[in-house]
Amino acid sequence: MAQNEQVMSTEDLLQAQIELYHHCLAFIKSMALRAATDLRIPDAIHCNGGAATLSDLAAHVGLHPTKLSHLRRLMRVLTLSGIFTVVHGRDGEATYTLTRVSRLLLSDGVERTHGLSQMVRVFVNPVAVASQFSIHEWLTVEQAAAMSLFEVAHGCTRWEMIANDSKDGGVFNAGMVEDSSVAMDIILRKSSNVFRGINSLVDVGGGYGAVAAAVVRAFPDIKCTVLDLPHIVANAPSNNNIQFVGGDLFEFIPAADVVLLKFILHCWQHDDCVKIMRRCKEAISARDAGGKVILIEVVVGIGSNETVPKEMQLLFDVFMMYTDGIEREEHEWKKIFLEAGFSDYKIIPVLGVRSIIEVYP
Ligand SMILES: C[S@@+](CC[C@H](N)C(=O)[O-])C[C@H]1O[C@@H](n2cnc3c(N)ncnc32)[C@H](O)[C@@H]1O
Repeated sequence: MAQNEQVMSTEDLLQAQIELYHHCLAFIKSMALRAATDLRIPDAIHCNGGAATLSDLAAHVGLHPTKLSHLRRLMRVLTLSGIFTVVHGRDGEATYTLTRVSRLLLSDGVERTHGLSQMVRVFVNPVAVASQFSIHEWLTVEQAAAMSLFEVAHGCTRWEMIANDSKDGGVFNAGMVEDSSVAMDIILRKSSNVFRGINSLVDVGGGYGAVAAAVVRAFPDIKCTVLDLPHIVANAPSNNNIQFVGGDLFEFIPAADVVLLKFILHCWQHDDCVKIMRRCKEAISARDAGGKVILIEVVVGIGSNETVPKEMQLLFDVFMMYTDGIEREEHEWKKIFLEAGFSDYKIIPVLGVRSIIEVYP
């Protein structure tokens, strides 16, 4: 033992070991959530009248007869995480019910208002998780300096894999549609003023058009365009009220009063964000004609003060390393806006973890 090293008390040593192992095993909660999503346990509970015993679940999910006790162990972690609730009858039998979290995991076709099960698969995804194993190499190896974490792990960018692997791309794009539908529902309930008085809007990197669809449903007079990569636009569901344009956001953004970018700039480093924002500035109307850029992004440190959202912003930031992206603090956003030639901005913390940022020319 080094001379200066202090001997830990027995209690400290014990607690330190417990805390360390607890951190090491945190990923099990994510994996259990993914398993419950793939097994469609929320649907099983819902279809069983909103409450289900272990045998009910086993019947619904097609469990192998030897695996009943294994399902019980999985459910124990999932109730600990607040994904399900459990009550034990007099005979000790467990009955599981949905929580507000697992209600978001009901499938399409099962009575529900919102679904986020594909988003679980976007986050808890073998290629996303595998990327995180390369952080050490990405941070230290010379050849990795100009690459994203994803490229170090997989030899291609996130966008290239989405383009070339239709299953992976399908899950990603479906997940973004789900996220956008939930986010837009909240934004339109809490802050629909952001869209008032606009004649035309381009959603840049708008994927399959879920944000634009929500905007035109609420404001049918707004002429909405979605710009995304050509292979994404080619597979977008048709919508007579939205014009889809295939292209590269670094090259050209169609003209409109307002440009909206949801979850785009957090995928890119500072200099690329300045380039994108300059393109946006060329595309929008003058400020006195209602011109602005609407960003839907995390502003680290702004939003709900509760532990879960605050922690989520920081976890999200490290997650975004995989595309060489970043979740920014206000001063980092401001630097981008000023360098791109914008004069002013307003942050509206509307989504707990994420904000609307209006940026004015
Ligand atoms: C994180 S997703 C966000 C999608 C959508 N805005 C949302 O929040 O649901 C990023 C989007 O940017 C698109 N994208 C990436 N590079 C692009 C480029 N160079 N030009 C246009 N779109 C691009 C992707 O295809 C993808 O749809």
